[in-house]
Amino acid sequence: MMLIDDVSVLARMLRGQPRTGTHAEKLQGFYAPQAARYDNFRERLLHGRERLVDLLDVWPGDRVVELGGGTGRNLDYFDKCLPRLASYDLVDLCPALLDVARARVGQILGANIRVHEADATTWQPERLADVVLMSYSLTMMPDWRAALANAGAMLKPGGKLAVVDFHLPEHSSPLMAAFWRRWFAHDGVHLSREHLPTLASRYEPLARVERHAAVPYLPGLAVPYYLFIGRKP
Ligand SMILES: C[S@@+](CC[C@H](N)C(=O)[O-])C[C@H]1O[C@@H](n2cnc3c(N)ncnc32)[C@H](O)[C@@H]1O
Repeated sequence: MMLIDDVSVLARMLRGQPRTGTHAEKLQGFYAPQAARYDNFRERLLHGRERLVDLLDVWPGDRVVELGGGTGRNLDYFDKCLPRLASYDLVDLCPALLDVARARVGQILGANIRVHEADATTWQPERLADVVLMSYSLTMMPDWRAALANAGAMLKPGGKLAVVDFHLPEHSSPLMAAFWRRWFAHDGVHLSREHLPTLASRYEPLARVERHAAVPYLPGLAVPYYLFIGRKP
């Protein structure tokens, strides 16, 4: 079953993200055919998400915003904390993934979770957030500097920005860096050497982990990713 499910996801990934249309249209064109199988496949590709939520150490009454929250998979990692949060706002531009998120939220009782179809570079919550989470979304935002500026603007002083994503480490070999850059760009994911240093320069680092992880169907290769949690000065 897994293989059959994977075939349709892989077929979409091999075709790549549509080259024309607005950013939102490209995301919808890419994700709509694979939305139902998204979580299953990404479980083996998007590493470190559960660890990031564990490290985050949210408090009762916290206001959490997730930018580029997709299907809401990270909600499951918050689990029993969810009803104790003041709010959890999940923001994403892709209607197909948000349909899955809304179905998931419908199964969660007693938590104040709101789902917003909106652009992470401009959307703002009604009240400042204690935590902003970005999980494999920064690399999919063409204007990542605007997304980070917007994330910073919605955080309280002392609030935490938490990011997990692929990247190109400072000392990675030029050959591997070129390979990963090209491999991911096909699907609209833009690996960068700048993301992690930019985060570390703007936020007081509370956690910083750099790792490599296996990629489904690419035996012998490991892609670099990082976890970063920083406090807003
Ligand atoms: C690789 S997915 C990760 C989804 C989810 N965070 C997870 O960990 O499963 C990247 C997400 O970023 C969203 N995204 C990309 N650009 C966006 C933007 N400008 N505003 C809001 N969401 C965006 C995509 O629609 C997609 O859901």
